[in-house]
Amino acid sequence: MKLKYFLLCVYFFAVGTNTVFAGPLFERFKDKQQQYLIDFGNKYLQNVGLHVFYPFGGPDITYPLLLFPNFEVLTLMGLEPVKPVDAPVELDKDALNNLSSLYRSSFFRTIDMAAGLRNVADLILKQLENLEATNITVQPIDGRENAVQIKFTYSGKARTIRYYKAGLNNEQINLEFLETLKPFDVVLFKAASYLPHQKPFSTFRNFMLENAKTFVQDSTGIPYDYLKDHFNLSLHGQYLMPYKFPGGFEQQDFRKYSEELNNPVLDICFGYGCKKVPTNILIATRKETPSL
Ligand SMILES: C[S@@+](CC[C@H](N)C(=O)[O-])C[C@H]1O[C@@H](n2cnc3c(N)ncnc32)[C@H](O)[C@@H]1O
Repeated sequence: MKLKYFLLCVYFFAVGTNTVFAGPLFERFKDKQQQYLIDFGNKYLQNVGLHVFYPFGGPDITYPLLLFPNFEVLTLMGLEPVKPVDAPVELDKDALNNLSSLYRSSFFRTIDMAAGLRNVADLILKQLENLEATNITVQPIDGRENAVQIKFTYSGKARTIRYYKAGLNNEQINLEFLETLKPFDVVLFKAASYLPHQKPFSTFRNFMLENAKTFVQDSTGIPYDYLKDHFNLSLHGQYLMPYKFPGGFEQQDFRKYSEELNNPVLDICFGYGCKKVPTNILIATRKETPSL
């Protein structure tokens, strides 16, 4: 009886304060999602190139590390602040809460990060530690504020993560700076708040459509209608509808395409609406221009 009462208190404390410790959640993530992502990457994403660009990526390095076995450089952008810090890190309650969201729901929540996250680098280092990366060093990126470079070894290979705090809407976007990050071998979108669908992000969307070689995305990324004529598409899982989210438009043509394919469901979480709407990952590879 006493034990039951104790467990109930622990449960209500966790749910009531919305705080779940990352440890057990990470173990569950490892059991249920990690191997699936690694297998998916090994099967479909071995040869997509060495530079992964992840706009609206925030602190999420777990998904790109697991999905892209051969990348060398991962560039992340988000609105959250960053500064150098040494490994190993101790996460405070806000940072832990945010990391819990990644392992529980498959993405970081912008609103929760805005409420108290002080440094994206803390979360990146903790994820690297959880994924057993070694030789981790962190440095500021010269000439830019709120920009950090992290070098490390993962799965036997030296890699670099660059995180830039940068706005990507039409008013804030800095195309000259984006040009310096080329080539965009592969662009990842997950839980991108449906921003690439929206008019205030049209400059960014057009830039990506002109420059990305491959997109790997959930349905919050570049809308299907912009991709279908110039990219070879390969859908995994099913697209039914956007998950309830401001700015998430219905994509009728995409739904029709998905229904015709009639793929089996994808049994992982990858962005919004996990277990509430079917998961989908679209791989879009630029069509070769025929040479004369
Ligand atoms: C819901 S979070 C998802 C993060 C990550 N993709 C994931 O799956 O965990 C959305 C991200 O988009 C970023 N974001 C929102 N508005 C933005 C803007 N105007 N410019 C650049 N990034 C923005 C947020 O800062 C946040 O990092």
